[in-house]
Amino acid sequence: MTLVEPKADTTRVSRVRATDVDIATTRPGTPGGTFMRQFWMALDNSTNLAPGRAKPIRIMSENYTLYRGASGKAQVIAQRCPHRGAMMHLGWVEDDDIRCVYHGWKYDCTGQCIEQPAEEAGYNRKVKIATYPTREHMGLIFAYFGEGEPPAFPPYPESAGEGLIDPWPVYQVPCNYLQCFENSMDEVHVAFAHQPGGSHVPEKILSGEINAVVDFRYSVSDKLGWWFDHHLSGLVGEEERAHFAADRSGQKFFDPSYGSCSKLVADVARERFGVELDVHADLVHWAHVIDTAGFASAQQAVELSAPALQLMTVIEAHGDDAFLAPRIARLAAGASVAELVSEPALQRLLAPLIERHKVTCDVIKARAVERDGVVLFDLAGSGDDRYNKFIPYWLYPQSRYCVAVSASRTRSKVSVGSNPWAPVPRTHNIAELCARFGGGGHAVVGAVSLKADELEKARLIAQAIVSELTVG
Ligand code: FES
Repeated sequence: MTLVEPKADTTRVSRVRATDVDIATTRPGTPGGTFMRQFWMALDNSTNLAPGRAKPIRIMSENYTLYRGASGKAQVIAQRCPHRGAMMHLGWVEDDDIRCVYHGWKYDCTGQCIEQPAEEAGYNRKVKIATYPTREHMGLIFAYFGEGEPPAFPPYPESAGEGLIDPWPVYQVPCNYLQCFENSMDEVHVAFAHQPGGSHVPEKILSGEINAVVDFRYSVSDKLGWWFDHHLSGLVGEEERAHFAADRSGQKFFDPSYGSCSKLVADVARERFGVELDVHADLVHWAHVIDTAGFASAQQAVELSAPALQLMTVIEAHGDDAFLAPRIARLAAGASVAELVSEPALQRLLAPLIERHKVTCDVIKARAVERDGVVLFDLAGSGDDRYNKFIPYWLYPQSRYCVAVSASRTRSKVSVGSNPWAPVPRTHNIAELCARFGGGGHAVVGAVSLKADELEKARLIAQAIVSELTVG
């Protein structure tokens, strides 16, 4: 057999068109990466980095460490220690320097190694960690990752007037940066989908004879008949506040001092409209307990023997409109929660959920270890990535905190919580702790979410959080 190489087609001219250049990829050495590295990059809100803290960051497909020294200076350095590659954010910030957690090498904010506990004196002068120009402006931390000298700073001098830049909270969007640019520069999309008050309950949803929105953001719409909310985020922006303040219907209620909307609705019904909801007292009580996690004990939250908690369990798994609508109608007509739960159809849905819950309790019991008031367990590979958050406190009533690693097809996760019934009060802010590892939450509960293939990283973070929680 003879192979004949085809002749080149000399009639075609090969040209690189502008549309062939991949600007979505920003890794080093790519056209998009080279272009983007010419500018100061905003990394985070200044308020997200307290003095003495270090956190991992990922910019343009590369990992770094961001820390703030005791003087308040923020600095970006390499992700890993040049010695044996330990992650620098796991170390300690000392004055304006940072010390590696592994063998204690310490670097100043120029990157110069200034201490090596176990090396020959003077060897440290030969070692530097990479650093990147880092500055702050108008509540944002910026860094420069390009070659040579950075461009002039601040990057937007004309916007220095008060109120012109209002940094939003930083959150991770799981998509390429270009999609966010395209999305926010599409003025038709922004005007349509993000109209004030309209992004959560669009006007077309308010199509009933009477429209009531409960436990949800306010809608700037004349079709909104009734509104109750207790979240601080329920009223966002001047337009919403002004619309709410101008409302004369007497049917819109906003009170962030309430822990739940069920109690807010019941109190408003009695105090403003003289409607006693005694027949629904049990329902209101349990809705409030569930919304505020105000269980009498961990045992009550885990046993799920109260009819309301059984109803909650089924709603969490099957609570679509078809399930809820007829049952809400029965409750409104005076049926009790216990009557609803005793229905054979509901019991058939409940039984497998309770069985699964018991298996999860057994798995956590087998895997959890408790040390110095902190319970740690790893659910990866168990088939469970969701669990009743009170199980660890039921197993270890004396514990103060719980740290759990879980993994699903879409993510690895570190969950951190505090025991509401602990004999010794909580001393750590869990939201702040999780934020140091790229997560967030509230003072009493938080989480760090990672990619599905970052399970080992999740385990390292969990260990680091446990170390911190066992101190003090
Ligand atoms: S790995 Fe950092 S000091 Fe050894």
